[in-house]
Amino acid sequence: LRTAAVIPAAGRGVRLGPGAPKALRALNGTPMLVHAVRAMAASRAVSLVVVVAPADGVGEVKRLLDEHALPTRTDYLVVPGGDTRQESVRLGLDALPEGIDIVLVHDAARPLVPVDTVDTVVEAVRDGAVAVVPALPAADTVKEVEPAARPGEPEPVVATPDRSRLRAVQTPQGFDRETLVNAHATVAFGGDGATDDAGMVERLGAPVVVVPGHEEAFKVTRPLDLVLAEAVLARRRA
Ligand code: CTP
Ligand code: MG
Repeated sequence: LRTAAVIPAAGRGVRLGPGAPKALRALNGTPMLVHAVRAMAASRAVSLVVVVAPADGVGEVKRLLDEHALPTRTDYLVVPGGDTRQESVRLGLDALPEGIDIVLVHDAARPLVPVDTVDTVVEAVRDGAVAVVPALPAADTVKEVEPAARPGEPEPVVATPDRSRLRAVQTPQGFDRETLVNAHATVAFGGDGATDDAGMVERLGAPVVVVPGHEEAFKVTRPLDLVLAEAVLARRRA
């Protein structure tokens, strides 16, 4: 079974603060996206990586991938992204050639995921799961609230789900290609769209399973995450 990785990298990175699109920001001198592409290409299972670039940055991303040494047994494609993550993933799926049976969807914003986690996800799909999510037990207690009517006002708590049953999900999420394409073609989400591909498959009514994630698969979202990511890279080099 042939596996491709789709890497949505078209976001602005608003929560990271002003600057270049998040995926193009450097971590210890190398763009976050290049780390993420390497993380996918490091898996022997992955034969194609589809990068979904900012719509005005396709040329720049192609140049970046050419400049950095990437494993040559993997093919690379760059396509323009959309206004939401969901749209960007769909555009990446549209670019997949025939002959790909398994699709990983991996955030460019999770540049440091270890190859063992990638392989664990692929294995679970090969073993027959149609949707696989790497996840860790929730560290914080999570509360559901009634969003405040005005910003800054206290928010009433609605519920406290049992933490032992909660998981914080990561990427790469792995899918039977047909199931994921079907979910993207039929499941409607309002607002900013789905932030999680497995959630779309759940809405189809198909089974989704969780496998162990990894601490280093954390998402670079806020400025402090950049500090952590650079520290992890420095430790790997030590
Ligand atoms: N993404 C994308 N297209 C979009 C929005 C997001 O491809 N229109 C990608 C991001 O590039 C990122 C991944 O989806 O790799 C996860 O999204 P997130 O962490 O929210 O990144 P951003 O949307 O860039 O950040 P922010 O929400 O802070 O603006
Ligand atoms: Mg976002």
